[in-house]
Amino acid sequence: MEKTSVYIETFGCQMNTADTERAESKFRASGYDVVNDSTTADVVLFNTCSVRARAEQKLYTRIGEIRRLRAGNEPLMGVMGCVAQLEGAAIFDHAPAIRLVAGTRATDRLHKLIERIKNGERRALDLGERQEGEVWDVSPVERHSRYVGFVPIIEGCNKFCTYCIVPFSRGRERSRDADEIISEVHRLKSEGFQEIQLIGQNVNSYRPKSDIGIAEFKGATPFSRLLRAVASTGMPRIKFTTSFPRDFHADIVAAIDEYENLCNWVHLPVQSGNDRVLRAMRRGYKVSDYLSRIASIKNARQKISLTTDIIIGFPSEESKEFEDTMRLVEQCQFDGIYIFKYSERKATPASRLVDGVTEGEKTARFLALEKLQMEIQKKKYSEYIGREVKVLVEGESAKSAIDLTGHTTCHKVVNFRGTAELLGKIVKLKISEAKVHSLYGELVA
Ligand code: 5AD
Ligand code: SF4
Repeated sequence: MEKTSVYIETFGCQMNTADTERAESKFRASGYDVVNDSTTADVVLFNTCSVRARAEQKLYTRIGEIRRLRAGNEPLMGVMGCVAQLEGAAIFDHAPAIRLVAGTRATDRLHKLIERIKNGERRALDLGERQEGEVWDVSPVERHSRYVGFVPIIEGCNKFCTYCIVPFSRGRERSRDADEIISEVHRLKSEGFQEIQLIGQNVNSYRPKSDIGIAEFKGATPFSRLLRAVASTGMPRIKFTTSFPRDFHADIVAAIDEYENLCNWVHLPVQSGNDRVLRAMRRGYKVSDYLSRIASIKNARQKISLTTDIIIGFPSEESKEFEDTMRLVEQCQFDGIYIFKYSERKATPASRLVDGVTEGEKTARFLALEKLQMEIQKKKYSEYIGREVKVLVEGESAKSAIDLTGHTTCHKVVNFRGTAELLGKIVKLKISEAKVHSLYGELVA
């Protein structure tokens, strides 16, 4: 009998990418074919994001596109991920072509939902929790990269920032057992991976049920013990995102200083540079607390690069409060920032506030902040000219077929001329040119 083929289209964050890899592995283990082609697959699943309205709208656009493309030969279509978790059965009403809805903790049970439909049920819904003993095995062929592996260490979020939907879509924080994480890193290493990224909404809130796997490592927090344990596996490169400022302990910086393979990059979202706005966002820290975290990072022995997220136009954000954010950005000299216009999310506390900032004002603030940051990055990136950096060669550059691309330990993109046999290797490059988002280098013998 011919195998059923499944195609998963992924929107949003790294956690969704990791969930897709896990779902695909489970599909393959359950006798399905996993394919990369939405035009022929028997089953098309959308792994969705709901962090901002625009991400959510993309789902309905894509459903329409697939329906047009596949008219007369429509696949079984389903929605998984954050939109599925939040909207549940309402998706069946919005988009009658959808027959399967699976929440953020149902990735291991998707094949069961498909079987129910094959057995005659019209629709299948699963918004349940992860089950005890579910496996996290991801087969190397399903990984998004052959060289960089995502390793989830904590799922969900307990912070309830007032603008954010994630605590609702992904539920409460659940930390994965450390011994299981370490086994996965060992496996990735034996499969030839050169880098892992420990991922989670707030990695430094990591709090496993037991100390097994990290007990023998020193560290002021379970996360810094985990970092040391993971570094001791000998995996060539280890990165981690996202960190939460309130729980960012100086010991994380100490661990980066101690272990060569813990990469020199911290992503620490600040969201705003004004104390009243931070309070209204319920972030749990003040600007001065954030600056003290930054100081510990900047005082490290290693030069650690620093990136952040900023929301502009939070309801009631006044222009002088936005000016405080500009000042903070100027002061912190980030290596990169992600700027987001505030997007109202249903049922969050901020959605009850009057969104007094006009779209025009949001755009003006966005552009002003972007301009400031581009000036900072121009300066930061050009400081690399003439310096030697080590780069993990991850792929062919989008710009030209003979160019390769990869990241430095501080997570900067570097493009260079080279041939495909360098893929998956860590090479030394001398930087010859700098743009605002990437560097260009030449191989050093
Ligand atoms: N509107 C705009 N940006 C948001 N983010 C989270 N929720 C919202 C929202 N409602 C941003 C935050 C977070 C990043 C992943 O997305 O900056 O750090
Ligand atoms: Fe959302 Fe705040 Fe949790 Fe980040 S820490 S996922 S912004 S609630």
